[in-house]
Amino acid sequence: MSKAFYIETFGCQMNVHDSEKIRGVLTARGYEQTPSPDAAELVLYNTCSIRDKAEQKVFARLESLKRRKAGKTIGVLGCAAQHNGEDIFKQAPHVDFVCGSASYNALPALLDRVEAGETRVTGLDIDTDETFDAPQTERGNPYSAYVTIIEGCDKDCAYCVVPFTRGPERSRASRSIMAEARELAARGYTEITLLGQTVNSYRDPSAAGWSFAALLDAVGNVAGIRRVRFTTSHPSDFTRDIVEAIDRNEALCNWVHLPVQSGSTAVLNRMRRTYTRERYLRCVETIKSARRGIELSTDVIVGFPGETEADFEQTLSLLDEVEYGSLFSFKYSPRKGTPAAAFEQVPEEEKSRRLTVLQERQRRIQTRRNAQAVGGAEEALVEGRREKFRQWIGRTTQNRVLNFSDPRGLAGNRDLRGAYCKVRVTGSGPNSLVGVLAAAESAAAFNGFRILQ
Ligand code: SAH
Ligand code: SF4
Ligand code: F3S
Repeated sequence: MSKAFYIETFGCQMNVHDSEKIRGVLTARGYEQTPSPDAAELVLYNTCSIRDKAEQKVFARLESLKRRKAGKTIGVLGCAAQHNGEDIFKQAPHVDFVCGSASYNALPALLDRVEAGETRVTGLDIDTDETFDAPQTERGNPYSAYVTIIEGCDKDCAYCVVPFTRGPERSRASRSIMAEARELAARGYTEITLLGQTVNSYRDPSAAGWSFAALLDAVGNVAGIRRVRFTTSHPSDFTRDIVEAIDRNEALCNWVHLPVQSGSTAVLNRMRRTYTRERYLRCVETIKSARRGIELSTDVIVGFPGETEADFEQTLSLLDEVEYGSLFSFKYSPRKGTPAAAFEQVPEEEKSRRLTVLQERQRRIQTRRNAQAVGGAEEALVEGRREKFRQWIGRTTQNRVLNFSDPRGLAGNRDLRGAYCKVRVTGSGPNSLVGVLAAAESAAAFNGFRILQ
C-alpha cells in the first residue's frame, strides 16, 4: 500500500524545483502526494532561511504540527535545515530528520534510515560532488520547466546566508543540461527557466567549455523551446555576450532579473557586492542598448547597516534612472553567522518607512511604464484562469502579467493553458496589463500561435 506524503515549499525557485526533485524520489519509492498534512505519514517542509520571517514561518508550522504528530514522520529540508542543523531538534524535538539541499543526492539513503525507524537523522554535508542529474524529477507544470545549471554561491555578500545553506558554486556540464532541455521539449515543454543563485556565473566544467551566453543560445535553439528565461543574474558577471545572445535568438526572453540591492556605492561596498553604482548602470546601459527591448527587474534591500538617508535617496534615484518593470524589496534582516549581523543596525521603524517610500516610488514607475504598453500587441503564454473575471492569466516575454478576455469567443471552449496567444493590450495597472484575445482579427495574426485542444 502506498504511503502519503505532504510537502510545503518556502523560498525561491530553486527550492520550488528542489521540491519537484524530492517529489520524484518519493514517488519512485511508492509514496503518493497528499494536499494536507493531516492525511500524511510523511510531512516535509522545504525551508528558506534568507530572512528571519521566512525561518519563523517554518518553526510556526512545526509548532502547529506538534499535537498532531502521532503516526507521522516529520522532515525539515532545505536552507533553514542546513543553516540550523541539529539545532532544529532542540527547537522542535518532534522533528525526525533534517537534510540540506546540498545533500539531496543522499536523500534515498536517508529515507531508508527514517523508514527503518531511526530518528534525529541528519544529512548536512555540503556535498560538492552533486551530479545534478535528477531523472526522477516530477514537475508541477506541464509546459514550463525549471532546469538547474549552477548550484551554490561563491560570492560573499555580507548579509546573505546562501553560501552557507547551498555551499560553494558548482556548474553543471553543458551536455547534461542540453540532454534535459531536449527531453523536456520532447515531452511538450515550451518554456525553460535556467536556475542558479548566480546563474550567469555559469562556467561549463566539461571539455566543451561553453560560456553562459553559448549555453543560452543552444537551449534557445532546441526545437520546440519557444521561451528561455534565466534567474538570478549577478551584475559583476553580466557580460555583453549575454545581451548579444538575446538579440540574436528570439527564443531568449526580453527580460533580465538583475538585483542591485542598493543605489549607493558606499552601501554596496559594505555589502561586498563587488560593483559600484556606476558599474551597475553601465551594465544596464549595455542591456538597454539591445535591439530588442529588454525589461529589467531587481531586488533591493532597505535599511542595511549604516544606510543613511542620503544612501537611501541614491537607491530612489537609481529606480528613476533604470525604470525597472518590477521590483522585489526587503527590509534588511540580520542573519546568524553573516558579517553584517554584527554591524550597527538601522532601527526597525526606519526600515519600514524606507520600504514604504521605495515601494510607492516604484509603483508610480510601473504604472507609467505599463500604460505605455496599451494599444500594442503582445504574445502571452497562458498560465492560468481567473474564473471570476472570465480572464486568462498570461505572461509576456518581458515577464509582465497580461490578463485577457475573449469577448468574441475566438478560442471557443478551449482550455488555453500552455498556449501562446496574441493579445491586444487595452488597459494597465501598476502590476499587470489587461487585454483581449486578438488571434482572429486576421487569420495571419493567428499563425504560429498554438492553441491547445
Ligand atoms: N543570488 C541572488 C539573490 C539571492 S536571495 C543575488 O545575488 O542577487 C534573494 C534576495 O533576497 C536578494 O537579492 C536580496 O535582495 C534579499 N536578501 C538576501 N539576504 C537578505 C537579508 N539578510 N535581509 C534582507 N534581504 C535579503
Ligand atoms: Fe547571496 Fe550574494 Fe550569493 Fe546572491 S550573490 S546568493 S546575495 S551571497
Ligand atoms: Fe531561501 Fe535558500 Fe532560496 S535561503 S531564497 S530557499 S536559496
